[in-house]
Amino acid sequence: MIPKVELHLHVEGAAPSALIRDLAQRQGTDLTGVFAEDGGYAFRDFWHFLKVYEAATSVLRTPGDYHRLVTAVLEAQAAESVIYTEHFLSPDFCGGGDLTAWRDYVAAMADAAAGVAAQGGPRLRGVVTAVRHLGPDSAKRAARCAAETAGEFITGFGLAGDERAGVPRDFAYAFDMAREAGLGLTAHAGEWDGPRSVSDALDDLRVSRIGHGVRAIEDAALVERLARDGIVLEVCPGSNIALGLYPDWSAHPVARLRDAGVPVCLSTDDPSFFRTRLGWEYDRLAAAFGWTEADFAAMNRTAMAAAFCDVATRAEMTQRLEPADDRPA
Ligand code: ADE
Ligand code: ZN
Repeated sequence: MIPKVELHLHVEGAAPSALIRDLAQRQGTDLTGVFAEDGGYAFRDFWHFLKVYEAATSVLRTPGDYHRLVTAVLEAQAAESVIYTEHFLSPDFCGGGDLTAWRDYVAAMADAAAGVAAQGGPRLRGVVTAVRHLGPDSAKRAARCAAETAGEFITGFGLAGDERAGVPRDFAYAFDMAREAGLGLTAHAGEWDGPRSVSDALDDLRVSRIGHGVRAIEDAALVERLARDGIVLEVCPGSNIALGLYPDWSAHPVARLRDAGVPVCLSTDDPSFFRTRLGWEYDRLAAAFGWTEADFAAMNRTAMAAAFCDVATRAEMTQRLEPADDRPA
């Protein structure tokens, strides 16, 4: 399996359903409606998915729970040959936006990451993520948490949640705080909202990456802008198909975006919910578009160039992405 880089992954969305069930059982929490008969997560559409996601997340209550979660997620990514990854981490779920509590969660997650890295597993950086439908004030609290913990482990700030709640400009203050703190910036856009949401995120939040962004394909001028300005799209095809945004792999615009010169990289978004794995996504894309290992290697290099990490980590990971025969001896 080729080495991979995965930039777009919500840590709770990668929680094995068995872990969530175990925590619920210990706490006596009723999670009726969260699971399907086969034990996986059950949801009807994106908005129902967000509700089920938050219900499942409610059993992750302590820094210790997040230590266990991050370890499990990184081990699953190691099995996909992921060498570098970023996880979306939300103060809203980790201490309710309280800075003192957040620091404890960050310490636990960084410790879990160090443990996995010491065993040769993926290197992890955290992207603090505001939940859009919780509103601008909550996003400001998340940005403060991000700014106060920015450093070696917390390296980015992002915006997820319901794309139709408010407009990007509502979150400009939070993004300004995060930018001032030296964090890399990304925002979900162009998934459930149209191409305008992508250009608004670029204009009003000044992000260098867009989460999804696939509906940019509906506006040729925007596609040209993304290509010209080197805005990287964190594309999650399996997520888009599982949620019904596109009917199947061959209908997904990722190949057309890439052919137009837009830098794209590949991720799984919420793999436990969408019943996907990164390697499986590569297989489906290879079948749909004839992509080869060289294509995937190029997209992994794109991801690493756009990663929110220090120069030394980028250099080390980029070298590990090179084919063995091109590597300096
Ligand atoms: N939160 C968790 N997963 C998400 C997704 N795919 N889009 C928006 N918000 C999310
Ligand atoms: Zn996402």
